[in-house]
Amino acid sequence: MTTAKETFDADTVAKAQELMARYPQSRSALLPMLHLVQSVQGFVSQEGVTFCAEQLGLSEAEVSAVVTFYTMYKRKPCGEHLVSVCTNTLCAALGGDAIYRTLQEHLGEDGKPLGHEETAGTPGEPGSITLEHAECLAACDLAPVLQVNYEYYDKQTPDSAVELVDALRRGEKPQPSRGAPLGDFKSAELQLAGFFPEDEETYRAQVDGPSQAPETLMGARIAQERGWTAPVMADDVPLPEVEKK
Ligand code: FES
Repeated sequence: MTTAKETFDADTVAKAQELMARYPQSRSALLPMLHLVQSVQGFVSQEGVTFCAEQLGLSEAEVSAVVTFYTMYKRKPCGEHLVSVCTNTLCAALGGDAIYRTLQEHLGEDGKPLGHEETAGTPGEPGSITLEHAECLAACDLAPVLQVNYEYYDKQTPDSAVELVDALRRGEKPQPSRGAPLGDFKSAELQLAGFFPEDEETYRAQVDGPSQAPETLMGARIAQERGWTAPVMADDVPLPEVEKK
């Protein structure tokens, strides 16, 4: 078994220290540091837990408790791409369940559908895909949606989702509906850890992109056209007492 020291090189240690320096208390860096671990390994291994614990002066139990609480931290190696299908209420009603079922069958092998957080192909290898069902992805106005490495693909159907994963398996990177261009899971994790290209042009090319959708602004546009406004809030509304400790 490899050790944390063998798995995480000097550059990763330097990045971990940079993260700690961003907070008054170093333990606050745990969440981004776990994303940093995923940018190296594609998941949070036991060495990853040990690495964070050593860097932050926490126990491994404390780090593990956080890792197992949040679904963005993966306990098994992920594919080159993480495909998250929203199966929460609105997306499910508009076809999200059908999209998820279709992808499970399409990516499965020997008649066995792919399960939640299982990978088609060899994790980390080009074209490998980890599938998961996700709770509301905060794009209900564009339902049903799915994400690849947390980039949005809006208004999907079972057929368009199959086309998308087939393109990913061929090594293509279809342009998301909005936002930044598609990278891979590990590069998305590095961004989630808080590390971005320093060169402005590269930053714009890799991280930036128009993110608003007309559907999201529809209510505001209709209100503007019809002259609707929200009632003015009185400025003498008493605020509740702040509890003194
Ligand atoms: S229910 Fe799918 S984005 Fe909200």
